[in-house]
Amino acid sequence: MKLMKWDKSLSTGIDSIDKQHMKLIDMLNEFYESIRSKSTKEITANLIKNMREYALFHFSYEENLLRKHGYLALEHHKSEHKKFISKVEDFENRFNSGKIVLSIEITNFLKSWLKDHIQGTDMKYSGFLISKGAN
Ligand SMILES: [Fe+2]
Ligand SMILES: [Fe+2]
Repeated sequence: MKLMKWDKSLSTGIDSIDKQHMKLIDMLNEFYESIRSKSTKEITANLIKNMREYALFHFSYEENLLRKHGYLALEHHKSEHKKFISKVEDFENRFNSGKIVLSIEITNFLKSWLKDHIQGTDMKYSGFLISKGAN
């Protein structure tokens, strides 16, 4: 069973961004599946690392697009991205040093963050970027 599914309520109306969000959700589902099926520490560590790296790529894509078009709330948006990356790094460090077991609570946190961020913070730039012709 998937932890999270993409649906229209997550659509920003900008194709490139929606595709990246879908990929992030896929990666989160894979990570969740690896925890649920108790796969090896190496596999799980690799999946969360890949997800963090893809999130970094996506965040900088989004920030560059917003910067290019002069989006006013960029700094606030960036700070949310930064907090998320720190949080994931913290999970990774504690997991890799054996201090925590990655759990469903953690995947649930990631899911809620993604959903709230896309539907709240990302959705706020939707009309703005569409009006600038972004796709
Ligand atoms: Fe996003
Ligand atoms: Fe964002």
